Amino acid sequence: MVNYTIIEHPLVSHYLTVLRNKNTLKPEFKEALDRISYLLAGYVYSNLKTDEVTVQTPLKKCKGRTIKHNVVLLPILRAGLGLLQGFSALLPNVSISHMGLYRDEESLRPIKYYFKFPDVKHKENLKVIILDPMVATGGSSIFTIEYLLNMGIKDINLVSLLCAPEGINAIDKRFNNIQKKYIKILTCSVDEKLNDKGYIVPGLGDAGDRLFGT
Ligand code: PRP
Ligand code: URA
Repeated sequence: MVNYTIIEHPLVSHYLTVLRNKNTLKPEFKEALDRISYLLAGYVYSNLKTDEVTVQTPLKKCKGRTIKHNVVLLPILRAGLGLLQGFSALLPNVSISHMGLYRDEESLRPIKYYFKFPDVKHKENLKVIILDPMVATGGSSIFTIEYLLNMGIKDINLVSLLCAPEGINAIDKRFNNIQKKYIKILTCSVDEKLNDKGYIVPGLGDAGDRLFGT
């Protein structure tokens, strides 16, 4: 099975409930998503590799550590932008790639309209963190993961708020065991199911529309 972790934290549960509430308006929705993004970033960044360095304090030299990983954040447009705040604020030097996808309303297949990725020479310490609040059919995530695997990237984290079981199963089916070693999914909840329009149930509705007021 593809590696996935459900992040348990009282604040994540609290803000997720704010996001699920249909009466939560746009400013509060954005604020709750921002706050969750810090909590998720703290979790995902806890696995970053570090290098030992020497630092001179005002009193004496001592050992310290600096981040060794080269991190690229990859929000899937549009709703993935809603998870960017915490990840970019805690690691301001990260590069931010963008994948522009929307789901065709009939087929639910992802349609690509934009992709930009930094020119990375060395891939050994490269970690790509895909940000997308919703993994519904899994089509958008699969498309993006495939793209990255084809670029030779071997450390791919997919960070989401909500996954449908159908989405996780589709990701699991799509990739072979070697590819799965390169993929980690982190989510706040695996919900009940997808409805016949491809929405996660109970879910939170359309993440992009609620975030951007469209
Ligand atoms: C939503 C969401 C995911 C995708 C998930 O994007 O942000 O990217 O659907 O669905 P899937 O797992 O079935 O592919 P949407 O296409 O609505 O675009 P938007 O973010 O621009 O609103
Ligand atoms: N995209 C969303 O924004 N919400 C869903 O429930 C499914 C896909």
